[in-house]
Amino acid sequence: MKHQRAKHPIFVAVSGTGRLLSHLLTVESHHSYSVVGVVTSHPNCQAVTIADKKHIPVFSGDFPRVVNQPKTAATIQNIESSEIHGFYQRYQPVLTVLAGFIRPFPFDEEWPALNIHPSLLPKYSGVGFYGSKVHQAVIASDDVVSGASCHWVSEEYDQGEILSQVVVPRLFDDNEYTLAARVFKSEKKLLPTSIDLALKVVISKS
Ligand code: GRF
Repeated sequence: MKHQRAKHPIFVAVSGTGRLLSHLLTVESHHSYSVVGVVTSHPNCQAVTIADKKHIPVFSGDFPRVVNQPKTAATIQNIESSEIHGFYQRYQPVLTVLAGFIRPFPFDEEWPALNIHPSLLPKYSGVGFYGSKVHQAVIASDDVVSGASCHWVSEEYDQGEILSQVVVPRLFDDNEYTLAARVFKSEKKLLPTSIDLALKVVISKS
């Protein structure tokens, strides 16, 4: 009989279509995580419908928008001091994965979080750089490559330590849509394996 290793519980934080959430659920059996909860800033988004269909508990909160100040809204409160705390206490995720979460996430050393960003960080990051804005900026530049990055969530928006990256070519005839599709395809490969890696790091520290 095949030995089944224990899975590590994770949360996925979402705000939009949930394409990555859906993918993470599809490939879950090949990886070391199990999605035990979803956190959202947008209770009516498609990602929540995906979670509901799978009977995954959802926490919907009022996450402040990014404010253009040296310290972002992410530093205003940590998980311990926010309404989300009970959800964490109940399901005890080892890691939270921000997969299309567009608001600052409460930084808390007790509850590590990983974010995926559709650029080669530190390029095209921070306030105003999300979704198509990133790809438009690459198309407007002279860059010959783009890609995606997974980084630890820190007190500063989009600036935590980089865990992993993937590079994709920017082709001569690309537009923002063709480039976005190529980057997203690479994100689907990068994210699940990066979660496995992040979990190893988190577990080794606990
Ligand atoms: C990805 O491109 C990711 O890099 C960014 O949001 C996109 C995924 O959102 N942070 P979704 O899964 O389509 O909602």
